[in-house]
Amino acid sequence: MTMTLPRVLPLLLLLLLSSLLPTRGGESYAAISCRKHSASLVDFGGVGDGKTSNTEAFRRAVANLSGYAGDGGAQLVVPAGKWLTGSFNLTSHFTLYLEKDATLLASQDESEWPHLAILPSYGRGRDAPGGRYSSLIFGTNLTDVVITGNNGTINGQGAYWWDKFKKDELNLTRPYLIEIMFSDRVQISNLTLLDSPSWFIHPVYSSNILVQGLTILAPIDSPNTDGVDPDSCTNVRIEDCYIVSGDDCIAIKSGWDEYGIKFGMPTRHVIIRRLTCISPDSATIALGSEMSGGIQDVRAEDIMAINTQSGVRIKTAPGRGAYVKDIFAKGMTMKTMKYVFWMTGAYNSHPDPGYDPKALPVIQGINYRDIMASNVTYSARLEGIKGDPFTGICISNVHIELSEERKKLQWNCTDIAGATHNVTPVACHLLPEKEPAIDCPFPTDRLPIEDVQLKTCSVPYNYVR
Ligand SMILES: *[C@@H]1O[C@H](CO)[C@@H](O)[C@H](O)[C@H]1NC(C)=O
Ligand SMILES: *[C@@H]1O[C@H](CO)[C@@H](O)[C@H](O)[C@H]1NC(C)=O
Ligand SMILES: *[C@@H]1O[C@H](CO)[C@@H](O)[C@H](O)[C@H]1NC(C)=O
Ligand SMILES: *[C@@H]1O[C@H](CO)[C@@H](O)[C@H](O)[C@H]1NC(C)=O
Ligand SMILES: *[C@@H]1O[C@H](CO)[C@@H](O)[C@H](O)[C@H]1NC(C)=O
Ligand SMILES: *[C@@H]1O[C@H](CO)[C@@H](O)[C@H](O)[C@H]1NC(C)=O
Ligand SMILES: *[C@@H]1O[C@H](CO)[C@@H](O)[C@H](O)[C@H]1NC(C)=O
Ligand SMILES: *[C@@H]1O[C@H](CO)[C@@H](O)[C@H](O)[C@H]1NC(C)=O
Repeated sequence: MTMTLPRVLPLLLLLLLSSLLPTRGGESYAAISCRKHSASLVDFGGVGDGKTSNTEAFRRAVANLSGYAGDGGAQLVVPAGKWLTGSFNLTSHFTLYLEKDATLLASQDESEWPHLAILPSYGRGRDAPGGRYSSLIFGTNLTDVVITGNNGTINGQGAYWWDKFKKDELNLTRPYLIEIMFSDRVQISNLTLLDSPSWFIHPVYSSNILVQGLTILAPIDSPNTDGVDPDSCTNVRIEDCYIVSGDDCIAIKSGWDEYGIKFGMPTRHVIIRRLTCISPDSATIALGSEMSGGIQDVRAEDIMAINTQSGVRIKTAPGRGAYVKDIFAKGMTMKTMKYVFWMTGAYNSHPDPGYDPKALPVIQGINYRDIMASNVTYSARLEGIKGDPFTGICISNVHIELSEERKKLQWNCTDIAGATHNVTPVACHLLPEKEPAIDCPFPTDRLPIEDVQLKTCSVPYNYVR
């Protein structure tokens, strides 16, 4: 006995110490702002069993933590577990942090989805004329809000809503997964987002938006599951995202016909880079079709599209008004595409018969360069509007390999004007080869959103389970 005690003692001490001290530090992450205060969803009654509703826990947490907005802000940590929840709102100077094995599961109980008024720049809901369901995670009139994690998951469980949409059983427009409205300084990063009821991320009437490191996955036949839709927003940076969608991977918008024209809020200064997109029935990056507040200065680079319907696609129609101008894309690799280039001037979906058919959109200054595409059916379908041609189209250094199903008319051009250089197969006569050689422009200045520096923030160890 007396001989063994000294040998056991250090072990006992070690066990005692390890139960008192953290065995590992907290987790760190990069964000636009770090927070002084931290709390766990569990502190507010959250239960991560996948069955208990956490809607009230989230609402209590946000109500409580909004009290720290003036004192360094707060972060709400969602630990590992399955957290069923309905819609809840965010607050300012706030971070929602999802642990690696944390999954938010969107409730399929409609009473957990409050209703919101229609968007003023749309004049009606996209699915139904009336109002709309609040998104799963919603915020309005906020400053400095972060939704991030160590690749935690938000699962919209959208099948319930897709089914109602297909059966035409919706009285209100489907919820989005995340919508941030009238806000400034927003970061959404390092998460996996699954099966949104409709669009995944909808920043609207907002500025300084950073979207980074997202994996976004929806079945390729799910309705309207767009990845990221900046809508009437300024200064947007979307990078390092992998998106598989039933609709456009990115869609840049700014309101619909007479409602969008009246609201008059453009989307400007957008950079999209290092994006991988899979979307057999839609575009890698769409501009429109709702563009009635105008779209200007969009820069896309290092884009990969696989088994996708088109690359950068412009969608508009008489009635939209406004403009799409100063669009730049370079460095795109595409495999198995229906169209490499697609512009549509007859995207005739209108909110109501009250639109003005004389409100013609101006499409001008569209620049594409350094594109390699293989297994392509049509090189280009470029359809402007009669009496309102799309002008200033520049396409250079493009190599397209055609598929066995290639169509005879490779460049189908109507009501457009511009030039090309070093493009195969050779373009239509409306886009003549330019001599001397041109290289289509890409801006060399930096957008303010590119200079946003991230801080290293941490989640205290006692919240990491
Ligand atoms: C927020 O929670 C903390 C810790 O439970 C509590 O001390 C504080 O009173 C709560 N504040 C509000 C506004 O509920
Ligand atoms: C969320 O915000 C909306 C819009 O401001 C508001 O109508 C709703 O009551 C808020 N919900 C909660 C739970 O605070
Ligand atoms: C949010 O901001 C918009 C635009 O500034 C304003 O019209 C609206 O009243 C604000 N809403 C709230 C709830 O403060
Ligand atoms: C995040 O999780 C998704 C889904 O499991 C995975 O495909 C992706 O590679 C992960 N991303 C990172 C950066 O670990
Ligand atoms: C939609 O509205 C109609 C008429 O107001 C009503 O009869 C129907 O029950 C509603 N459907 C749903 C799913 O709420
Ligand atoms: C978050 O994603 C970025 C890529 O956008 C990556 O560089 C970084 O390591 C990720 N951070 C974490 C904590 O996963
Ligand atoms: C080429 O595209 C066709 C569809 O147009 C597809 O069926 C086929 O698998 C693709 N081939 C390769 C090598 O990717
Ligand atoms: C060319 O494009 C026009 C307008 O988009 C379309 O109506 C027509 O069918 C196309 N022609 C061919 C041969 O693809």
